[in-house]
Amino acid sequence: MDKIDIFARAKINTALDVTGKREDGYHDLRMIMQTVNLCDNISIEKSKETGIELTSNLAWLPCDGRNLIYRAAEVLIDRCGIKKGVKIKLFKRIPAAAGLAGGSSDCAATLVAMRRLFGLNISNTELMKIGEELGADVPYCIMRGTALAEGKGEILTRLPAFPDAYVLLAKPPINVSTPAVFKEFSMDKVEKRPDIEKMISCIENNDLQGICDNMCNVLETVTEKNYPIIKDIKQAMLDHKALGSMMSGSGPTVFGFFTTYEDGIEALKFVRSTYHVKEIYLTTVFNIKQHKGTSVN
Ligand code: C5P
Repeated sequence: MDKIDIFARAKINTALDVTGKREDGYHDLRMIMQTVNLCDNISIEKSKETGIELTSNLAWLPCDGRNLIYRAAEVLIDRCGIKKGVKIKLFKRIPAAAGLAGGSSDCAATLVAMRRLFGLNISNTELMKIGEELGADVPYCIMRGTALAEGKGEILTRLPAFPDAYVLLAKPPINVSTPAVFKEFSMDKVEKRPDIEKMISCIENNDLQGICDNMCNVLETVTEKNYPIIKDIKQAMLDHKALGSMMSGSGPTVFGFFTTYEDGIEALKFVRSTYHVKEIYLTTVFNIKQHKGTSVN
C-alpha cells in the first residue's frame, strides 16, 4: 500500500460538565461525545524523500508543526523509525476553532492512517496514548461514535449508538479560543449542570427528545455571555423545529437536532440569511455500528 484516503469527522458534545480544575492546568470534565458525518478528507502518500509535506485547500491554514496532522505524522515517523517521508493532502470542511474537534479529528485520522499505511504494530490503546499527548480530544477522535469522556477527556466509555437524526451545525462568524474560555470559566456562574446519568439512559432508550430536553453545556455560561449571537442562533433553530439546540464544546458552533431533512434545510436557510453564517452544514449523526472495528472510513 502506497497511499491511503481517509475521512476525519467532526464531533459535538450533547453534554459537557466541568467537575474541577487540575494541577496540570487542565480541567476535569464529564462529556457526552458524538461523532457527526461532516468531515475533512486526508490523503497520505509514501514518498521517496524523507520529511513531511502537508498541503491544504485553505491558504491560511498552517501546514507545519503548528498543524496536528504534521505533528501526528512526525511522532509516528520518529517513534517507529519510519525511513520514508509522507505527502499529506488535507481538504478541510470542518470549521476551525469551532468546538467541533476538527484539528483533533484530523490528528486522530492521521495516526490511524499512518498505522495502516506503514503496517505499524501499535495497539489502539498505545495510539490513544500518543494521541493524548497531542490533544485532550484526540483519543476520543480515534474511538469515535457515542462515548462518555472523563478526566481531561481521555478516559473513555463507549455508549450505545445515538438515535438517528439530522444535525445542523452553524458556526457564527466569531473566533473563540478554547484556553481563554476555560480560563474565564467559573463554577460560581453555573446555574444548571448536565445530568449525565439521565442523558446516558435517554441514549440507551433511543429517546432523541429526552436527550434534547436534557442537553446542557456549562461552558455556554462563558461563551454565550461574550457572544449573544449564540443564544439567538439556538433560539432560531428551536423556532424552526429543532428538537433541541446547544453550543458544542467551547463554542462558538451551535448545533440542532432535526427529525427530517426538510426541517433541517428550512432552519439552515433561516440561520444563514438572518445571522450571516457562512459556515453552516446540515449533516447526520455517525454511529460506529455503520463502520465496524477501528476502520477510519
Ligand atoms: O488538549 P488541547 O490542546 O486540545 O486543549 C486545549 C486547551 O483547552 C488547553 O490548553 C486547556 O486550556 C483547555 N482544556 C482544559 N481542560 C480540558 C481540555 C482542554 O482546560 N480537559
